Amino acid sequence: MAIQKRALITSQVQIAPGIFSMWLKDAEIVAQAKPGQFLSLYCNNEDRLLPRPISICEINAAEGSLRLVYRVAGKGTEEFSALKKGDTLQVLGPLGNGFPLEKKKAILIGGGIGIPPMLELAKQLDCEKSIVLGYRDVTFMNDNFQPYGEVYLSTEDGSDGVKGNVIDAIRRYGLKADIIYACGPTPMLKGVKAYAEEQGIECYLSLEERMACGIGACLACVCKTKEKDHHTNVQNTRICKEGPVFASSEIEL
Ligand SMILES: Cc1cc2nc3c(=O)[nH]c(=O)nc-3n(C[C@H](O)[C@H](O)[C@H](O)COP(=O)(O)OP(=O)(O)OC[C@H]3O[C@@H](n4cnc5c(N)ncnc54)[C@H](O)[C@@H]3O)c2cc1C
Ligand code: FES
Repeated sequence: MAIQKRALITSQVQIAPGIFSMWLKDAEIVAQAKPGQFLSLYCNNEDRLLPRPISICEINAAEGSLRLVYRVAGKGTEEFSALKKGDTLQVLGPLGNGFPLEKKKAILIGGGIGIPPMLELAKQLDCEKSIVLGYRDVTFMNDNFQPYGEVYLSTEDGSDGVKGNVIDAIRRYGLKADIIYACGPTPMLKGVKAYAEEQGIECYLSLEERMACGIGACLACVCKTKEKDHHTNVQNTRICKEGPVFASSEIEL
């Protein structure tokens, strides 16, 4: 059950140009939070009505706090980036379904601002795992993943790791798995889905579609499914409510 309340910001730092890491303290929300779920953050400026969805990056159950890592994209995230330790933020969550925690040899793939949610998944997955992180140019957070598996990087400009995308890195290093988990921009997820199908690997994708209500009421975030929904008889599903994580075989991208 999602909780709506003001949460205390216990730290906020810039970790790369335009990318911020924020810890929020709220024992009640943390007690329910799972990797792959997200929070809706409300702006303090009431002109910005819609909440902004941000994935849960890390959970510290002992301290009752959780970490969000976000890129400044527009007015809302710009407002969040100006908040300081001791400020509060109205949040709703945890929302969405989260990743299934299978005990199978895994490849975790994060692309750009889809990297943060893979960190808590890497911590909670109790299995052999390779972690593939794809960037345009500047890398961030890759050190955070080191304790949880072998980390492989790709950059589009070739400044670090394999020059190219995450699939280029997987092929270059000959990584093998029984299951793939991924989050990132849609073109990357299309590539991951195609790779998983080609290799016959089970695959879960977290979609970051534009959202409005975040709770399943407005249908702003639908994506196309392979099968028709039994109740509505359409090939649609809501990313905020039924997702954001889907088996790649269930959805069309
Ligand atoms: C499930 C989910 C998880 C996400 N997790 C992260 C994360 O961990 N880190 C991160 O940096 N970004 C994440 N995003 C993207 C983030 O929500 C947008 O960058 C942010 O909402 C932009 O808000 P803005 O006010 O700064 O930009 P504006 O463009 O001014 O936003 C205007 C409106 O569009 C919506 N919107 C704009 N871009 C997006 C987008 N890409 N996705 C969803 N809604 C959008 C906003 O909610 C807002 O209502 C996630 C998106 C989704 C759907
Ligand atoms: S954002 Fe409203 S239904 Fe998903």
